[in-house]
Amino acid sequence: MGSIDFQSYESRAEASAAAAELLAALVRKKLSGSPQAQASLVVSGGSTPGPCFDLLSREPLDWTRVTVMPSDERWVPADHPDSNERLIRSRLLQNRAAGGNVLPLFRAGVEATQAPSLIQADLADTAQPFSAVLLGMGEDGHFASLFPDFEQLPAALEPETQEPCMVVQTASSPHLRISLTLSALLNSGHIVLLIFGAAKREVFETAKQGGSAYPVEALLRHSRKPLTVIWAG
Ligand code: 6PG
Repeated sequence: MGSIDFQSYESRAEASAAAAELLAALVRKKLSGSPQAQASLVVSGGSTPGPCFDLLSREPLDWTRVTVMPSDERWVPADHPDSNERLIRSRLLQNRAAGGNVLPLFRAGVEATQAPSLIQADLADTAQPFSAVLLGMGEDGHFASLFPDFEQLPAALEPETQEPCMVVQTASSPHLRISLTLSALLNSGHIVLLIFGAAKREVFETAKQGGSAYPVEALLRHSRKPLTVIWAG
């Protein structure tokens, strides 16, 4: 298990600000390498990251050299209320970040089964390792769309798998999903896990102990890069 930096905050607002500050610093560090340097940022969807995105969108970075992509996506059009791409465009790529680029997982006009090869091709043209990955977690211990009841979960959590993303269909989600695999998410300079509430704290602590069936345990176990967990009650 790599080193885990656990940070606890008095409020969700403070935790969101800390996450935004850390992500901005990681992107800024990558961009400072040269005037041509490109940065890539993978971010989760869901209800947690919105306030972090709002703050991050105001960071004075050269966002034209930054590509943002979802860690996972519901297989819905980018204007659908449940779209993570929509969340990124409406909450993160605003203000100073308006010039940022998006690498979408949803592809209009193709079957979900065709998406992984298209995404893999786009990833080949994207700055990697990712400058940073921001993940959330469900109370069932899933991260991205790697749910406990996903039939191909073992393959998706195999740290050496060559597949960067997989189609995910489970009872846990009303939508068909596309998710980056653990191996793709681990290809990052730094991983930030932003979680709120007592229940998620307990899931994290249980997974950290080992021996759980929570998918997030594989992330904690196999992460060899800095992993920062930011939590508020
Ligand atoms: C998604 C996310 C997912 C999310 C968790 C936690 O598409 O929903 O990528 O992995 O991070 O489900 O969701 P909340 O932040 O809403 O608790």
